[in-house]
Amino acid sequence: MLDKFLEDGYTEAIDLLNGDQIEQVLSACAALPEKFLPWLKGRHSVVPEMVDLGSHPVMVEAVSKLLGEDVLLWSSQIIYQKPQVTHRWHIDVEHSTWDGVTVWLAMQNVTEGSMKLISKSQHLNITPQELGEKYFVDLTDDRQVQHEAQKRNSECKLVHVKVKPGQFIIFDGRLWHGTQNSTPNTRSSMIFQYTRPSNKLFIPLDNNYPGTRWSHLQPDCVLVKGKDDFKLNKIIDRDYSGSWKSKARVMMVHFPQKILRKIIPA
Ligand SMILES: [Fe+2]
Repeated sequence: MLDKFLEDGYTEAIDLLNGDQIEQVLSACAALPEKFLPWLKGRHSVVPEMVDLGSHPVMVEAVSKLLGEDVLLWSSQIIYQKPQVTHRWHIDVEHSTWDGVTVWLAMQNVTEGSMKLISKSQHLNITPQELGEKYFVDLTDDRQVQHEAQKRNSECKLVHVKVKPGQFIIFDGRLWHGTQNSTPNTRSSMIFQYTRPSNKLFIPLDNNYPGTRWSHLQPDCVLVKGKDDFKLNKIIDRDYSGSWKSKARVMMVHFPQKILRKIIPA
C-alpha cells in the first residue's frame, strides 16, 4: 500500500462499512444541517459520530502507514453530488499550504469513475487550478487535463477509481482529482482529511487558488493517533464534539465571521 501511494499518489480500495452500516452511519452523521457547522469541512466539531468514523481503527491504521505515528484529523465532510454534475479537476486549496492525505469514503450510488485521479500528479509543480488560470485549460475536460499532466510527466495516467459503497481510498493531498455523477441518482460520499501535528492549520475563506484568503480561525482537530508535541492547533475530543460548548463556539465565533464575510466580501 505504501509503495503504491508513494509512487502513484493513491491506494487501492479498502473495505470499511457493510450495506446496513452505510445507512446507519450516514443518517447519524447527516443529522445536523450544514449551516450549523463551523465551516464546510468541520462536521466533526459538532457531530460526534463523525469523530467516531474519522477515528475508525481501520482508517487510522491505513492513514498512519502513510503519515507516521502522530496523526491529526482536521477535516470531515459529507458530499452529496446531484445527477449529471461534474466537480472540476482540482487539488483542495488547503494542500497548497500543508501536506496530508484525504480519505474518500464511498457511501451511496457510487460507480466506477465517480472519483477520477491523475496518477503521479502529486509530484507535478503545478495544480489544475493554475492550469485553468494561466493556460485556460478546461478543468471539466478529462482529456485536456490528462494531456497537461502527461506533458509534464509522460507516466501520469487518468484513473477511474474502482471503489464500491462502504470502501475508501486514500490519496495524497496534492494529487489532481475530480468527481462526476453520470447517473440519474444523487451520489453520497464522505471525506476525512489528516495531517501531522507539525503543521499549523487555518480555515480557508474561499476556494480560489492561487490567491486563497485565510481566516485567522483554526479548524478543530482530533488527535486520532500518537501525540502532539507541537501544540500548533486546537485539539478537540469526542466529548467536546456536539457538546453545548462546541455549539456555543459555532454560534459566538464562527457565525459572526460568516456574517462579516458576507457584508465585507473581500
Ligand atoms: Fe477535492
